[in-house]
Amino acid sequence: MRKLKILIIDDEKLIGWTFQQKLSKKGYEVLTTDSAEEGLELFQREDPDIVFLDNKLPKMQGLELLPKLTSLNKEAVLVFMTAYGSIDTAIKAIKYGAYDYIAKPFNFNEIDAVLGKIKEKISTGNELKILRSNQPVKIGFSNIISQSKSMKDIIDLAKKICTSDACSVLLMGESGTGKDLIAKAIHNESNRKDKPFVTINCSSLPETLLESELFGHERGAFTDAHKQKKGLFEIADQGTVFLDEIGEASLSVQVKLLNIIENRVFRRIGNTKDINVDIRIIAATNQDIASLIKTKRFRYDLYYRLKVFQIDIPPLRERKEDIPQLIKYFINYFNKTLRKNILGVTKEAEELLCMYDWPGNVRELRNIIEHAIILETNETVQKEHLPIEIKETEAPIAIGAVDKWFDIPNEGFSLYDVEKAIIKQTLYKAGNNQTLTAKLMNVSRDTLRYKMKKYNL
Ligand SMILES: Nc1ncnc2c1ncn2[C@@H]1O[C@H](COP(=O)(O)OP(=O)(O)OP(=O)(O)O)[C@@H](O)[C@H]1O
Ligand SMILES: [Mg+2]
Repeated sequence: MRKLKILIIDDEKLIGWTFQQKLSKKGYEVLTTDSAEEGLELFQREDPDIVFLDNKLPKMQGLELLPKLTSLNKEAVLVFMTAYGSIDTAIKAIKYGAYDYIAKPFNFNEIDAVLGKIKEKISTGNELKILRSNQPVKIGFSNIISQSKSMKDIIDLAKKICTSDACSVLLMGESGTGKDLIAKAIHNESNRKDKPFVTINCSSLPETLLESELFGHERGAFTDAHKQKKGLFEIADQGTVFLDEIGEASLSVQVKLLNIIENRVFRRIGNTKDINVDIRIIAATNQDIASLIKTKRFRYDLYYRLKVFQIDIPPLRERKEDIPQLIKYFINYFNKTLRKNILGVTKEAEELLCMYDWPGNVRELRNIIEHAIILETNETVQKEHLPIEIKETEAPIAIGAVDKWFDIPNEGFSLYDVEKAIIKQTLYKAGNNQTLTAKLMNVSRDTLRYKMKKYNL
């Protein structure tokens, strides 16, 4: 394999220096810079294979530079570096096209592991591209883990949606809950499956560009319109259009979307002729549409048209029963892609993973399992390979340790009601996971089941 070129963009000179020392010894060509501007210039001129990009840079945040790098459409693999604890930033970076992220402070074993993974990706990249174009892997409902009742209900509804031909769908849920996944599954399991599925992210483009992407334009419609261009709605005819981050669409785009949904027609920019299309629109957002409507940033009539079927995907912390299955699913997946043979996670690690709050939802869980599998040399994932925020999740206090005076009401109370309330609260805290609830209350699962039956919970 030829020498791989790595660009480090980090204002901490010591980090650049350490990368330089360690990686050139390992046969990489290393370039470093401490500024975003020079980083961009080196990226264009030197065409690196891999970029390590720090978020905290003097003039421009790494997160701002990242889309600039990805929009240059190079093949480079981008790894984002953030301070420990800024999972939100890391998640955004992945969304903006970073391949992976590393939390600072890191040790060089992690860098080695990430580089090993990237090298494999680069060497199999070309084969994969050909394989993918011949045989796209189609995501279907079998790729969506749904152990919890809420997810099972969602999948049932989504399956029904597949059979109702063109109705619009609105997917709501926090970042990383699986909106993309469900949108693709609906398309792939409907009779539109052999037609295009086109995604447009309403937040990533300025308004004028978004309009011309969606509706297309005629030659000369505006200064840069050198030739006629078909819009995504035309390209997607008979298929599905996925409007991601719909909450970010401007009011003028919203009017045009409303027209398409109501009349199934639209016009190219610079043309007065109506074009008819047959499309299903699936829109997604992680924003609270109700408050956008209240502040007049989102049209109620559009919301009303989109939500023919509305799916609210709960955050992972509210459906913790899905966690053990998701862990198994991702271990299996990464065993294949990373050629490892990990059997599972230790009991201790699983408990921690079930207790954690998951602000980044399933995407965060997936990344953490991937990292742990890369680092793991044992057969099972050990606690030590989980990130610090998970290792430090508060351990449950056994009820025996509670030594507290309660305010006993003068009129007395019902012990029955108190027990019921405590069980209910513990179930809630554990995201309805019975094993965890029983553990929190220091009783067996059978006892818990018996009591749940008794109290009709
Ligand atoms: N139920 C699930 N089963 C298996 N994988 C899942 C599930 N939910 C989410 N994932 C995986 O988690 C990651 C994040 O999901 P996805 O991209 O669909 O989230 P999203 O809701 O679209 O997030 P965002 O709002 O940030 O765009 C993906 O890799 C996806 O495959
Ligand atoms: Mg998404």
